[in-house]
Amino acid sequence: MPIDFHTHILPEIDDGSRNVEMSLKMLAAQREQQVDEIVATPHFYAQKDSVEEFLLRRQRSYEKLKAAMAEKNLDQKLHLAAEVYYFQGIGSAGMIPKLCVEGTQILLLELPFAQWNSAIYADVEKLVQRQKLRVVIAHIERYYEFQKKKEIWDAVMELPVYRQMNAGVFLNWKRRHKAFQLAKDAGTIILGSDCHNMDNRHPNLAEGRAVLAKKFGEAFLQRTDRLTAEVLQ
Ligand SMILES: [Fe+2]
Repeated sequence: MPIDFHTHILPEIDDGSRNVEMSLKMLAAQREQQVDEIVATPHFYAQKDSVEEFLLRRQRSYEKLKAAMAEKNLDQKLHLAAEVYYFQGIGSAGMIPKLCVEGTQILLLELPFAQWNSAIYADVEKLVQRQKLRVVIAHIERYYEFQKKKEIWDAVMELPVYRQMNAGVFLNWKRRHKAFQLAKDAGTIILGSDCHNMDNRHPNLAEGRAVLAKKFGEAFLQRTDRLTAEVLQ
């Protein structure tokens, strides 16, 4: 069963779904694509938010959506999580485990859209080695063009981290060549739609999966599904 690992489907919490109605439409679109397990990953920016406030807002948003889902007989499984934006020192920040996918040690980490430096590497390494978190790097395809010097990129990717890619990149004929390369290098990826709304960033997991199946075969998707299910346990 396909799992959407990266979504902004919770209402009124970030730049994703604007209200419950939009979230329900997004869930209906997911259902049409057989996506019945969804990780909700609202943006968390340490500069703007305290963890406690974020978790409270997320809980309120989730409860509102859950009530509306029950009325519409939508019973998809939602995992509460966050897309945590990098900040210097994140590797030693004690509150980070609270932002993992609920009930797991899995952290979806968004890295800077700029040349990565050794401080970034050191922080990711600490998250993995010292805090013992299982780090999923969000949409790896979005940073690559900024890495004129590839050393840090290579070093980060050599850490035991998981690589998440957005389904949409495989639908973009200008960008998918590089994306196929990244997926191939990864061997196994975690897929997400990174859906924000119902127009330009709508749920599109099934479309992306179809392209991947054609390119790499069904076995590629099976590995993706197995890995995603395994990390969520
Ligand atoms: Fe995102």
